[in-house]
Amino acid sequence: MEVKADSRKFYEIECDALAVGVFEGEKPDAGVLAELDQRTGGVLTSLIETGEFTGKASESAYVHSTGEMKARRLLLLGAGKRDEFKPDNVRRMAGVAARTLRGKKARTFAFLQRFGLDASECAQAATEGALLALFEPDKYHTSDKTESHLDQMMIATDGTELDATKAGIERGRIIAEATNFGREVINEPSNVMTPTEMASKAAEVAKAYGLTLDVLDEDQMRELGMGSLLGVAQGSAEPAKLIVLSYKPKTKSDETVAIVGKGVTFDTGGISIKPADGMEKMKYDMAGGATTIAAMRAIAQLKPSVNVLGIVPATENMPGGRAQRPGDVVRAMTGKTIEVINTDAEGRLILADAVAYARKLGATKIVDLATLTGAVSIALGDVYVAILGNNQEWIDTVIAAAKKSGEKFWQLPLDKEYREQIKSEIADIKNIGGRKAGTITGAYFIREFVEDTPWVHLDIAGTAWNDSTKPYLAIGPTGVCVRTLVNLVC
Ligand code: BES
Ligand code: MN
Ligand code: ZN
Repeated sequence: MEVKADSRKFYEIECDALAVGVFEGEKPDAGVLAELDQRTGGVLTSLIETGEFTGKASESAYVHSTGEMKARRLLLLGAGKRDEFKPDNVRRMAGVAARTLRGKKARTFAFLQRFGLDASECAQAATEGALLALFEPDKYHTSDKTESHLDQMMIATDGTELDATKAGIERGRIIAEATNFGREVINEPSNVMTPTEMASKAAEVAKAYGLTLDVLDEDQMRELGMGSLLGVAQGSAEPAKLIVLSYKPKTKSDETVAIVGKGVTFDTGGISIKPADGMEKMKYDMAGGATTIAAMRAIAQLKPSVNVLGIVPATENMPGGRAQRPGDVVRAMTGKTIEVINTDAEGRLILADAVAYARKLGATKIVDLATLTGAVSIALGDVYVAILGNNQEWIDTVIAAAKKSGEKFWQLPLDKEYREQIKSEIADIKNIGGRKAGTITGAYFIREFVEDTPWVHLDIAGTAWNDSTKPYLAIGPTGVCVRTLVNLVC
């Protein structure tokens, strides 16, 4: 779907539907709502007076007869409370509009920008909301695919805000298309999305958007001493890959932000095998890696002024004949020895070598993201991403980027007392820390390999997958963190 800015009066725009947000308790007695009410023969007044439409968030009303307007239908959307209204509300409303109108077989719709927020931010949010809402994980359906005839969204704006609106749309489109690309990659089954295939997705992005790509094979990893990553990979017939995308700005910068994403293309648990029930979902254990590639795709287009590395350790975690065993000791690239108590705690093992490699490549700041622990869903459900780190300033910077993008992050502590739980009798460290504070001990393990580089860890195991379709988002991969990572560097 194409998104464009339109400065005509809302009633002059020829389209299948006009979508208009209305605040809770708002009366159509002034401004554009009064005009809308008048042109539709008082339909707003009537809907509001009867209580059929109150403006509560997630409410909507579909009006067939639009009177003196060129739009063939009117879709009213609850905008919620005016004093709580943020660009993220616009994102959701645009998403509800797009999915609702797709269901009504619309081809074109206009979205009226009337919220008193920054025009560019608002247009970006509306564009993102609509494009993200239209994604469906139905690539492999050969019948009953979700039909969509939507080919144009017009963001109706005041003439004075036309340029800002256009800029917001462009940024929103780049970010949303990158996110949907990432969701497409996450949604692929593991027989398709192998580590090798992930590397070719990265190659596609590098070629199309002008990034440098380096893919290390297992021999190269062995030479670098990445025993921790290779230990996970050794049970699988699919060769592991360490994917490195790199972006350099035109003017030289001393800052290098490394984004490091867990790319376990299928997690059986290895010899510490997972129960069969729900194991199919472990195809999304590469969401961190796909998100990294997706963010790099947007970053390449938005061209920030700092160096950015996108690093994806990609491997399966399989219980093959050569698989590592519980009790094995491996040596990571930094020289630290690890006792592998549970082969299902594999994410931290591959990230240990990947973050160390980020440092070797000159990273001055690191963000890793991973579907690392089931425990994060117990703590925060599917609402918040857990954020932990070794440097409060860097943590705060990432949280601020998340706020700007409408993604929810919640910080968990990482005090040194938790180190006790991953002490090993046999080696420098062990890879699990017992039942208590699972998300924290997982992060602590990674911390041991970033040394003194400012680092944050994002646990997206709870938020990377949407278990049920929402009015503004399909079931399946969410693409969480693409927006935050892009905002962080651009
Ligand atoms: N990939 C899983 C975590 C996961 C669980 C992601 C559910 C998405 C949904 C990870 O590799 C894992 O198995 N973690 C273990 C760690 C444990 C063995 C310390 C877990 O959370 O149970
Ligand atoms: Mn696992
Ligand atoms: Zn895993």
